[in-house]
Parts: sequence; C-alpha cells; structure tokens
Amino acid sequence: MPEKLALLGGQPISPTIPTWPVRDEREEQALIEVVRSGVYGGYPEPAPHAARFAADFAEMHDAAYAISCANGTITMTTALLAAGIGWGDEVIVPSITFAATAWAPMSVGAVPIICDIDPKTFCLDAEALESIITDRTRAIIPVHLGATIADLDAIMAVAQKHNLIVIEDCAHAHGGKWRDKGAGSWGHFGSFSMQLTKTLTSGEGGLITTNDALYAETCHSLIDCGRPKDAAEEVYHLGANYRITEFQAALLEVGLTRLLDQQAIRSGNMHYSDERLNNTEGMCPQWVDPRVTRRPGYTYITQFDPSAFNGINSKQFAAALVAEGFPCGTGNPPMHRYDLLQLTDKNSFVYRNFKDRLDFASMHFPVAEKASQSTIWVAHQMFLGGTDLVDSFVEAIEKVRVNSKSLQDYH
Ligand SMILES: Cc1ncc(COP(=O)(O)O)c(C=O)c1O
Repeated sequence: MPEKLALLGGQPISPTIPTWPVRDEREEQALIEVVRSGVYGGYPEPAPHAARFAADFAEMHDAAYAISCANGTITMTTALLAAGIGWGDEVIVPSITFAATAWAPMSVGAVPIICDIDPKTFCLDAEALESIITDRTRAIIPVHLGATIADLDAIMAVAQKHNLIVIEDCAHAHGGKWRDKGAGSWGHFGSFSMQLTKTLTSGEGGLITTNDALYAETCHSLIDCGRPKDAAEEVYHLGANYRITEFQAALLEVGLTRLLDQQAIRSGNMHYSDERLNNTEGMCPQWVDPRVTRRPGYTYITQFDPSAFNGINSKQFAAALVAEGFPCGTGNPPMHRYDLLQLTDKNSFVYRNFKDRLDFASMHFPVAEKASQSTIWVAHQMFLGGTDLVDSFVEAIEKVRVNSKSLQDYH
C-alpha cells in the first residue's frame, strides 16, 4: 500500500527549504548606515544608494540606463507614459502573468489586449501576437514568466515591423540573459520588481532599464513629480512621487552582489529538476529555449498531464505538495478570469469607455486555460538547496501520482 498523502492524514516528507530572503549582517550594516546618514528618502532623485544600485543593475543587465523606483507596477506605468502611450491605445499583454501587467496600461487610459501563451514556454505566443495587432496597437508587454525568457527575437521582429514599443516585464527575470544580452535590454524598456518574493528584494521596490537617454531622463522626471531632469532643467512632465527609499536601495545594493551566484545555484538545480521531471511519468516542465544563455529563476513551473494523475486539477496537486512541505501553488489564472481584474463601470474608467474591447466573459484563451488547470508553480528558494531537495520534490510528485485517486474529491 503506497504511503498516504500528508494532505489526507499521512506523514509529510517535510523537506528543509532554504529561507528567503537570504540576509546577514551586511544588510544590517547597510541599514544602520542609512539611519546614521539621515538620508532616508529618495529626494533629491536619484539619491546616492538609488543611483549606485541602478548603475550596478544596468551594467549587470547590459542596459545603458536604469532608474530605481517604488515597485514593479509603476515601472510599467512610467515606461508607457514616457513612450507617450495613453487614451484608447492598445497594449498587448500575455494571458498568463500577474494582474499588474494588465493594470499598467489601464492606469494610463490604454486598453490591455490579451494574447494567448505558447504551450511550451507559457510566455507570450509570438505567432498569435501578430494576428491581434490593429491600427490602435502601440505597445507589447511580454513577460519573462517563471524561469525563462519569452521569444525576444520573434517579439522584437514583430514590434519593429509594426513600429511598436516593447516593455519587457522582467519581474521574474533578474539576472537572465537572452543570447548573452540581459533581460530588460532588448525592448525599449525593462521593468523589474523587487517585491519580497522576487529573486532580488527590498520588500518592495522596482527598476526600469532602457538604452535611450531621453527615455531615461523622462522616467526619472515622471517618478519624481515631473521635476526637470534635462541639463537646462527646463522640461517638466506630469509625474508623481514613485521614488525608492534609501533603505530599500541600500538593501538592494547588498542583494545584488549575491544575485548571480544564487542564480547559478537555482539554475543548476532547475536544470536537474527538468531532467528528472522529463523522465517522470505525466510531467513536463516549462521549456527553456537554448537562446536563454543565463537562466533567470523566479518560479519553477511544471505542467502535469491530468490523465496520468486520475484527472486531478492543479489546485488539488498543489495542495498535496504543500502539505508534504513544498512551497508551491497553482500560479496565476488567465487574465480574463482573474479575480484581481474584475472590471466594472465603477472600478475602471477604461472599462467604462472601452468595454467593447474588454469583454472578458466572451474571451477564450485555450492554451492559458489548459495551463492554469495543469501547472504547478514552485517558489525559487526551493532551488537554493542541493539536488537532494529536487530529488525529494520528485519523490513527492510520485507520491501524489500513486495516491491521486484519493485526491479526486478534495476541495
Ligand atoms: C509578472 C509580474 N509583473 C509585475 C509585477 C508587479 O510587481 P510589484 O509587486 O513590484 O508591483 C509582478 C509581481 O508579482 C509580477 O509577477
């Protein structure tokens, strides 16, 4: 008789999961120094830690400029504003991402147009992309989801052909490289999040990358209440306060010195996990294109074939793994079925004005819908351990498989 699942009263596997965020006395010292300096805030923008962190981050990601700011949502709003995108313009976003990717266009009065995902990478489907471009399309926000990078060659080619702005949503892609060039340096802008769960964090925080001096100047202005940043100090924008604090930036400077070493460990373990799962009945991990020359690694996404697991869904699968002690979940639902994006006349001026283009109920994204029923997302800290942790994860999946019939009625 196979061992009972912990979810149903059995003994859990109880692996030791590395804690996140990783921190030591260097973070403590950095914060003490900010306290002693008395320079807590981000004004005048950029403040010293914010400027240093941005310069180091830009260099690591092969971008000419970087702007530290408050979070990885306002980064996209700022990039859209800097590119002049606004009322009624269409911005293409993938069907699987966090709600912020679709919220950002709406925050500037633009309409998010959802595009289905690629069935192997779960990132924006570059083939479907071209078919939804209209004469109102102004930008694309591809998301480098989980632990890979979207097909930047194909996306950039479509963008160039149709003269569209590309904002790479790199909230999951710190340290990643596509064909040896950093995530966030391919599009007109890159948008990074430093929220607590991310692979580089200050609790909250964000950063914009760009290779364009004027865009960089405009972004600095937009996040600093519109203050002029040009040499003559004459050009105002309509901005607001989205500055980062010096406490956050000081933490990020320390975290950045660890990022690539941590990423190498994660990437090695994720690669090992891919090999194990590709040889495990009913499992198919997110495909990583060989053009990803340095793998990012936020969430490890793996698909399962429900028919190999007695038809259980991702909720049941993830609940069983969590009970065994693994930090995972079902991931985000498709954008048009997302509880964080319930659009009404009352809560969205964009919906009120453009509801013909935002009728989520009538939309259908088959690849995203299937993925959301059959993928589990594992937190990146699990891959900061050794390969033995990956082995016990595979063991847990096997435990779920042999017990999957007993999960069918679990709600
Ligand atoms: C893909 C994606 N984009 C944007 C964001 C927003 O970042 P923040 O929470 O820093 O605003 C997140 C955060 O989870 C995300 O996962």
